[in-house]
Amino acid sequence: MKKGIFVIGTGTDVGKTYVSALLVKAMREAGMNVGYYKAAISGADSIPHSDAGYVKQVSGIQQPDHTMVSYLYRTAVSPHLAARMEGNPVNLSRVMSDFNWVAEMHDFVVVEGSGGILCPIRDDAHTCLFLEDVIQALGLDTLLVADAGLGSINAVGLTVSYLKQKHIPTVGLLLNRFNDSLMHTDNRTMIEKLTGLPTLACIPQNADCLPLSPDALNLIKGV
Ligand SMILES: Nc1ncnc2c1ncn2[C@@H]1O[C@H](COP(=O)(O)OP(=O)(O)O)[C@@H](O)[C@H]1O
Ligand SMILES: [Mg+2]
Repeated sequence: MKKGIFVIGTGTDVGKTYVSALLVKAMREAGMNVGYYKAAISGADSIPHSDAGYVKQVSGIQQPDHTMVSYLYRTAVSPHLAARMEGNPVNLSRVMSDFNWVAEMHDFVVVEGSGGILCPIRDDAHTCLFLEDVIQALGLDTLLVADAGLGSINAVGLTVSYLKQKHIPTVGLLLNRFNDSLMHTDNRTMIEKLTGLPTLACIPQNADCLPLSPDALNLIKGV
């Protein structure tokens, strides 16, 4: 089994946190000792009010709050800009050691990315980091969350093409807010054709569990 999976999205607000929470919940219910980690969260004044707090509440995991996030910014902007405004820029060595600690305490870690694949994490005179640098540093495979609706073929196609260019492995897709309409069904077919990646789950609006087959779960776990 791998040590974790890096949940990325085609952008912000596509459902990375929503889906991560359901994935952590599914793994916990399957008897795994699963943890959550996010390097940088913007737009929250405390961990309980952030993505991490949401995941903890939905999944029922007992992980201590301060281990779930390394950098928390109040301003709802990309981490690179939040750090310019508030200080405390992301240090990749700290992210790696914080993640390794969570990985040591759990069988498996669900790591959530910030924004989309081109999200700037730090940009100052000292260092420039994008989300892909965090993914590469942690050495994890990715799981791509996309909204199932209009625009998803383009958004997924461009993201997957970028991931391939950067040699970042992706295990599959999670299509969020999916319904059985002709457009959503065709989006799924076109996305699979375009990327060659499997759709591991289609998540309906207001889903309270992840419709994940045992094979899809094993693919995410890397077994
Ligand atoms: N399948 C879904 N059903 C209902 N609400 C959803 C669903 N997916 C996402 N949301 C809601 O949409 C908003 C954005 O989702 P979120 O997971 O925070 O996105 P991201 O982490 O990609 O920025 C949140 O309010 C979340 O609760
Ligand atoms: Mg989020």
